[in-house]
Amino acid sequence: MEQYIIKGGNPLVGEVDISGAKNAALGILAAAIMTDETVLIENLPDVKDINVMLEAMAGIGVKVERITRHAVMLNSSMIGGVSVDYEYIKKIRASYYLLGALLGKYKKAEVPLPGGCNIGSRPIDLHLKGFKALGAHVSIRNGSICAEADHLRASHIYLDTVSVGATINIMMAAAMAEGRTIIENCAREPHVVDVANFLNSMGANIKGAGTDVIRIRGVEKLHATEYSIIPDQIEAGTFMFAAAATKGDVMVKNVIPKHLEATSAKLLEIGCEVEEFDSAVRVVASKRLTCTNVKTLPYPGYPTDMQPQIGVALALASGTSIVTESIFENRFKYMDELARMGAVAKVEGNTAIITGVEKLTGARVSAPDLRAGAALVIAGLAAEGITVVDDIVYIQRGYENFDEKLRSLGAEIQKINSEKEAQKFRLLVG
Ligand code: EPZ
Repeated sequence: MEQYIIKGGNPLVGEVDISGAKNAALGILAAAIMTDETVLIENLPDVKDINVMLEAMAGIGVKVERITRHAVMLNSSMIGGVSVDYEYIKKIRASYYLLGALLGKYKKAEVPLPGGCNIGSRPIDLHLKGFKALGAHVSIRNGSICAEADHLRASHIYLDTVSVGATINIMMAAAMAEGRTIIENCAREPHVVDVANFLNSMGANIKGAGTDVIRIRGVEKLHATEYSIIPDQIEAGTFMFAAAATKGDVMVKNVIPKHLEATSAKLLEIGCEVEEFDSAVRVVASKRLTCTNVKTLPYPGYPTDMQPQIGVALALASGTSIVTESIFENRFKYMDELARMGAVAKVEGNTAIITGVEKLTGARVSAPDLRAGAALVIAGLAAEGITVVDDIVYIQRGYENFDEKLRSLGAEIQKINSEKEAQKFRLLVG
């Protein structure tokens, strides 16, 4: 199994380019099947989740032509079936976006129920509530969700919980439903807005994305488009915290600073300098970080996908910090790994009380999930000595060229496949 091996202690210095947003791309790829005309999507991140989503789409008959690592042409005029294979949903939950897209276009869809995952049970009851409200008959049969409707009609839907996935999935189905659908208590994430903008570029009529009320006037047909995905605010924030934790000076390029406001605010609170440019943000940490408190919330609050990253930074800060995870029920598993590097934290329910230490020491740790894995790499970069991170396949799901980008900032990190390669690295770094 591939691992990262890291020799910590180098401040990260330099510039890094951010890739397209994985969580926008997953919704946009699904939405692209809603037209029979050809769609060009650019600034795709070249990460495992995207590549699996493209395989799932090809599996139902979408013509997928990868122009470059970051651009794909799609044509869905020859889709043969509306049933997505279990092997794909097992690999990425977000293939459930095909449910809303297929239901919207063909009024019929069958997608295996996604399991839970490492950060929580992650139900999809709100997705199904929206489809039923639009007039679909929804049943669970042999582990799959079957949704079918003679025709989809407008509805007024209230989401009990703010849900990115439910907002996007229902928005897609409603885009081709008769009449005007209103969705209340919507997620406001930038990737929700990106999917809405993409659908509108295909001729949909969606207003209010980015607010908590989205109004959708259904259309008969959607047409060809060319679209470029927004930059990944979570990848950007991950590098910003890597700069903070290693007392570095990093210019994070190809970002939308507005999407990073909560992250930048917290970095300022813990003693970093943060400078915003049109499409870049510079983070400088010249002294020891200081403690703060943070609670994850739906956008524009502090993102849950940035919780492990700030947890690592606070583990090194002076003073005691409180981190409250209000979105998912199991997103502190990385704290056990961090404790093996010398962090002092107590997790009680959805709260972690972190007492900062002067330094962390390298250890062998295991990535429990995508964002926690990236955070453990940050810990390794800041720690004294050698850290080996197992199960990096999680990290590769959402970070393109992660180790290459870190090396370009002066990190001593390698992807390795064997003890022999680990030995070689140890000799190299001394
Ligand atoms: C998306 O997941 C992201 N994934 C997650 O990022 C992110 O953490 C999450 O939004 C929150 O921002 C993708 O976009 C592919 P939710 P999603 O529905 O849509 C509850 C990453 O690291 N809920 O907004 O699944 C749910 O249990 C991943 O890139 C219901 O109760 O998240 C959670 O407590 C990890 N019923 C809360 O809502 C539902 O039907 C928010 O979940 C749906 C959700």
